[in-house]
Amino acid sequence: MRIDIVTIFPKMFSPVFGASIIRIAQVKGKVKFYLHDLRDYTPDKHRKVDDRPFGGGSGMLMRPEPIFNAVEEILSKTKKNKPKVILLCPQGRKLTQKIAKDIAKEKQIILLCGHYEGIDERVRKELVDQEISIGDYVLTGGELAAMVLVDSVVRLLPGVLGDKNSLNFESFEGNLLEHPHYTRPANFRNLAVPEVLLSGDHKKIEAWRKKQALKRTQERRPDLFKKADLG
Ligand code: ADE
Repeated sequence: MRIDIVTIFPKMFSPVFGASIIRIAQVKGKVKFYLHDLRDYTPDKHRKVDDRPFGGGSGMLMRPEPIFNAVEEILSKTKKNKPKVILLCPQGRKLTQKIAKDIAKEKQIILLCGHYEGIDERVRKELVDQEISIGDYVLTGGELAAMVLVDSVVRLLPGVLGDKNSLNFESFEGNLLEHPHYTRPANFRNLAVPEVLLSGDHKKIEAWRKKQALKRTQERRPDLFKKADLG
């Protein structure tokens, strides 16, 4: 997968993309990042990316020209991939595992990181295919949201996670949260691991886990529980 990111802070991405699974995914050739500094696409020598809103009001908006220039240049080189243009902003659809899975099927995406009080509406109308929010709170910019989106997508790309099972039984599969996990020691500070997990009876263990997952989902996320796979 190819991921193009248009941002005024390209350096923010290096520590995150240089570590853990996202780094390994690049080493394995499963994903390639192209970071584009929005200021490189400004038409003026001051490299200005923001301006005052027409009609007045507080705060600044992102100007349309540099964003159009950046996206059009990326598209001119990669049209055959039909990349989706995704704007990270608080007004977007809230990111879910289902959205991450759908995005993971794309060959290429272009992520636009919003800033200031917002973005000129013509960018939304003409360039953006999808707007995504990572939650009902306001960040200082779309960069952290883009990293969250990238992390949730890259780990789903085939061949990125070593253990096949690590994707099969994780939270949100069948709209259930994960069951509790335990590792050694079996007794830690007088806190014992549930007996069934030491029994070696795989049928019983599976039934226990399913029950725990249902209980946990019902208690913590009644909204998910309504849609859960009760199997
Ligand atoms: N930019 C600012 N806040 C955001 C959010 N919650 N999600 C995505 N992008 C944002």
